[in-house]
Amino acid sequence: MTDRELLDKAKEAREHAYVPYSDFSVGAAIFTKSGKIYTGCNVENSSFGLTCCAERIALFKAVSEGEREFLKLALVGQENTLILPCGACRQVLFEFAPDITVITLDKDEIKGYSLKELLPEGFELQGKRIKDKG
Ligand code: THU
Repeated sequence: MTDRELLDKAKEAREHAYVPYSDFSVGAAIFTKSGKIYTGCNVENSSFGLTCCAERIALFKAVSEGEREFLKLALVGQENTLILPCGACRQVLFEFAPDITVITLDKDEIKGYSLKELLPEGFELQGKRIKDKG
């Protein structure tokens, strides 16, 4: 799985974005340690705070299918403008994948970040996170 291939999956998912309020489509694709890809797009709501980001939808789809280990997340914003996961999504990713790499596009250029640099000190209830269970 190349970075370009994973980004292409995120672009495909972006096609399904439900964005009547922001008109800003986002797509995500997460690559699991088991070698599978789960995708997501942003889904908005007229009660704006209920909107769910593409990253969380991709991750929750994977977790709900039994996945627990993740290697890479690809993220694409509308027209490939550079975006990075919002704070809430960084924390949700940290729960399952503190070592994940986030790749994104800045127009045609691929940029890569570690979640550790995006969220150096995430919140955890000691001993409760999946990663701590061994
Ligand atoms: N959004 C995402 O899906 N992921 C992000 O990382 C940032 C923001 C969505 C939420 C909303 O539907 C739209 O982008 C504008 O904020």
